[in-house]
Amino acid sequence: LSQYPYLDKGLEGIVAFSSRKSKIDGAKGELSYAGYDIDTLARNSTFEEVCFLLWHERLPNKQELDELNATLTAERDLPETVLNYLRSANPKSEPMAVLRTAVSMLADDDEEVLEMSHEASLRKSIRLTAKTPTIIAAFDRVRNGKEIVAPSKKNSIAFDFLYMLNGEEPGENATRTMDVLLITHAEHGMNASTFTCRSICATLADVHAAVTGAIGSLKGPLHGGANTAVMNMLKSLDPDTDIVAFIKGKLERKEKIMGFGHRVYKTYDPRAKFLRLLAQDLSKEVDMEYLYEWSEAIVKVMKEEKNIDPNVDFFSATVYYSMGIEPDLYTAIFAMARMSGWTAHYLEQLGNNRLIRPRLLYLGETDLEYFPVESRS
Ligand code: SDX
Repeated sequence: LSQYPYLDKGLEGIVAFSSRKSKIDGAKGELSYAGYDIDTLARNSTFEEVCFLLWHERLPNKQELDELNATLTAERDLPETVLNYLRSANPKSEPMAVLRTAVSMLADDDEEVLEMSHEASLRKSIRLTAKTPTIIAAFDRVRNGKEIVAPSKKNSIAFDFLYMLNGEEPGENATRTMDVLLITHAEHGMNASTFTCRSICATLADVHAAVTGAIGSLKGPLHGGANTAVMNMLKSLDPDTDIVAFIKGKLERKEKIMGFGHRVYKTYDPRAKFLRLLAQDLSKEVDMEYLYEWSEAIVKVMKEEKNIDPNVDFFSATVYYSMGIEPDLYTAIFAMARMSGWTAHYLEQLGNNRLIRPRLLYLGETDLEYFPVESRS
């Protein structure tokens, strides 16, 4: 193996693409989207504005934002084929599996599906971003035996998602919290699902194919699936649990603590810093402050035992739970936000494309003699 100094399991530190979409400083714990600090965006921006920023690498003017909002609103409905699928999907299926199938099905109904120009791909990206929240909310209604709620088309994606999920208009606070969740999850460099998306794009497959693959990649617990796993862990605790012993026990058994650690951040994930504050406020509001307190206790043990900090998925779980959202929807909501980042990378890859095709180091045997099956022992 020493002949292959570039062989790295997990491709750690390998720069595979250049990009203008986001910048991460893992040592300092800094993140910016196309030049704008994540904290500034989380405090001042909207998800729609961030979508524009990621797709165009600049902020929109008022007219451009109004136009994008109008298109994102108009495109929120789902085709009948997808609605029928959601009505007939197994209610016990994982939302991420249903989302993956439904997003793939959207290609069937998209007249521009094979049109590969930048302009057509951007139009498809906007449609995918508009329709993803509707899919997630509709499946959640169906699996809970409720009628699907059509988009109100009155307000932002954050507002309409909560409206379609709960069947009633959300308040300003809930809408703003959802908007912040979407902004903070929108984009994050060459994470596993974005890498998947760009690799699929690089074969010159359509954007529906690329984001369907990305959803599959996000689903795993080492990536986006961690937020659901965090809440399952918190729900397994009770007031009598000795959290220090609980975490130490897991570490001794070599189990990973979900929502901790990161390939790039060697310090606090800046998104986790922001979501931590939201988790504290919201859990208090709904009398579930214990979730926040347990989370802080886990953060402390992880720092002491492993010197590892929380990532985006840790405190977001408490934020979602405090909003009354079921744990198995968290990864799907992550996907709904990341659709903007995936599609932005798709457009960037398309503009400067080369097939992604790394090499493999073969470790098996060579030059074996072939015997017919009858003569093999
Ligand atoms: C996301 O890449 C992105 O940008 C992703 C993301 C995005 O926005 O797209 O930020 C979103 O995916 C966040 C990560 C969500 N996943 C989890 O929370 C799952 C738990 N975390 C991990 O398993 C882990 O930290 C990873 C998968 C996130 C990163 O894995 P690496 O870089 O391959 O690190 P590693 O597994 O090789 O760990 C290095 C060391 C090991 O210890 P030693 O063997 O060196 O003693 O750190 C330890 C690990 O055991 N470690 C952990 C740990 N994470 C790392 N130990 C216990 N619990 C953990 N969570």
